[in-house]
Amino acid sequence: MGRVVLNGFLLLVVILSVASSWILSSDPTRPNFEFLPQMAHSPRYNTFASNPNFADGSTLQRPEPGTIPRGHVPLHYAATPQDALRAGEELKSPLELNNLRARQRGEFVFANFCTACHGAAGAGNGPVPQRGYPAPPSLLAEHALKMKDGQMFHVLTYGQNNMPSYSGQLSGEDRWNAIVYVRTMQAAATPAPAPVAPSTSPLKAAQADAAKVPGGQP
Ligand code: HEC
Repeated sequence: MGRVVLNGFLLLVVILSVASSWILSSDPTRPNFEFLPQMAHSPRYNTFASNPNFADGSTLQRPEPGTIPRGHVPLHYAATPQDALRAGEELKSPLELNNLRARQRGEFVFANFCTACHGAAGAGNGPVPQRGYPAPPSLLAEHALKMKDGQMFHVLTYGQNNMPSYSGQLSGEDRWNAIVYVRTMQAAATPAPAPVAPSTSPLKAAQADAAKVPGGQP
């Protein structure tokens, strides 16, 4: 008797599974039977559509003050010469100079974003100045050699005179990568630093230079 029940049950299972595989579509491009469709298709508002749920009637809301985009590191400097110097004193590069990945990425960034003006070797003779744009100083010259990483980051972030801001084009990390590559070029071009006492202090030179920083994007 028990065997008959068991066989009947197994037969029912077989019938049910054959029937369900026949009912349920095997075409993966078409939606199948939907259980509780409201959960899959909830009401929504398009970004720029009006919206009765908010006081100002629009769907797109301003972020809360102080909101930081994911992955963004806030930079507490203004586009001023003083802050360029302060960045030089306070901001340290997160990357070691012997970081091969940073150097390779920096080389890519430099080739794509900097050589147009600064030239492939950083000498300041890229195609753009050759066509009349004010030529940048050589990145291998003493001034750029002595410029601290943090100040260079400030230059790339906010610009400096005719040097435009690159904060819109390059992430913070890529700006640091580019600086690693600039340092690599500088090291290759200056094999032995001469041990001469500087006649003007590096700070004075930096201050004179930083007096030229224009406004820019943070
Ligand atoms: C549109 C041309 C242009 C591009 C592109 C450009 N620069 Fe410049 N850069 C300049 C000019 C011009 C100056 C000189 C600014 C000044 O007179 O203070 C300069 C200055 C600099 C300085 C300061 C040098 C010093 O001795 O004061 C650094 C560092 C620098 N650029 C790095 C870069 C890097 C890295 C990139 C690529 C991400 C880049 N620049 C892209 C034009 C450019």
